[in-house]
Amino acid sequence: MNVYGLIGYPLSHSFSKKYFTEKFEQENIAATKYELFEIRDISDFPKIIANNPNLRGLNVTIPYKEAVIKYLDDVAESAKKINAVNVIKIGKNGKMIGYNSDYYGFKNSLFRFLPENYKGIKALVLGSGGAAKAVKAVLEDLQIPYLVVSRKQDPSTITYEAVTEEHVKEYKLVINTTPIGMYPNVKDSPYLPYSSYTAEHFFYDLVYNPQETLFMMKGKARGAKTKSGLEMLHLQAEKAWEIWNS
Ligand SMILES: NC(=O)c1ccc[n+]([C@@H]2O[C@H](COP(=O)([O-])OP(=O)(O)OC[C@H]3O[C@@H](n4cnc5c(N)ncnc54)[C@H](OP(=O)(O)O)[C@@H]3O)[C@@H](O)[C@H]2O)c1
Repeated sequence: MNVYGLIGYPLSHSFSKKYFTEKFEQENIAATKYELFEIRDISDFPKIIANNPNLRGLNVTIPYKEAVIKYLDDVAESAKKINAVNVIKIGKNGKMIGYNSDYYGFKNSLFRFLPENYKGIKALVLGSGGAAKAVKAVLEDLQIPYLVVSRKQDPSTITYEAVTEEHVKEYKLVINTTPIGMYPNVKDSPYLPYSSYTAEHFFYDLVYNPQETLFMMKGKARGAKTKSGLEMLHLQAEKAWEIWNS
């Protein structure tokens, strides 16, 4: 039996367990299961590894994407850059290597969303948490200049109240990396001057539940193209599977 799983806390709403369990069934992947390992403290991680000798791979979610790194034997380049691991491959010899498939998922999904001639576009990144790190790394690699909007006053970011008409004109791609608008708070949207947006804009929401957020609806109402986080979620999950089986 090959075992895959998820570590994090809390794990009540796990997309991954449902996704991989259905995948194993639909693709007739035998003798394989996906388990949840809800741990209250990352110091319990070595126990999970020791007690589950058939573990071949793990997904990592909040709040351990950074804290797990010190337990790994090696970390792939993109995960190092972001300083966050969301996939661990466990070799038969027990060697553990960390990867970041959010980086891959976002990059590929953004490619599908933007027009071919996206060069010259600039991005407004809403939020500065874990997901924003992967988003920023992708934007840097694609040479898309960006400005971060945060609730915090920081020399490198601006606040929501400081977003002007000029920013709207300059930053045609708007990426929501905050949980605002996520179920059950579906009536919330990031604070932006929505009436100034146009059909030249692109609204990308990392939130995947609901599939169409209020942020996306407000962009769409102004003619902007919109994209939900669902595709990124599927792409990062498939990338994890590919990493575990490579
Ligand atoms: N589609 C995918 O595959 C995928 C992958 C990863 C994450 N996500 C989604 O992305 C979202 C963020 O995930 P995360 O792990 O980055 O979460 P996080 O670290 O908890 O939060 C992200 C950032 O959002 C801002 N924020 C949080 N609560 C806010 C509020 N009430 N009002 C305004 N800003 C707020 C904060 O930035 P400031 O302090 O700078 O304001 C925070 O650092 C979640 O909805 C998650 O489901 C999707």
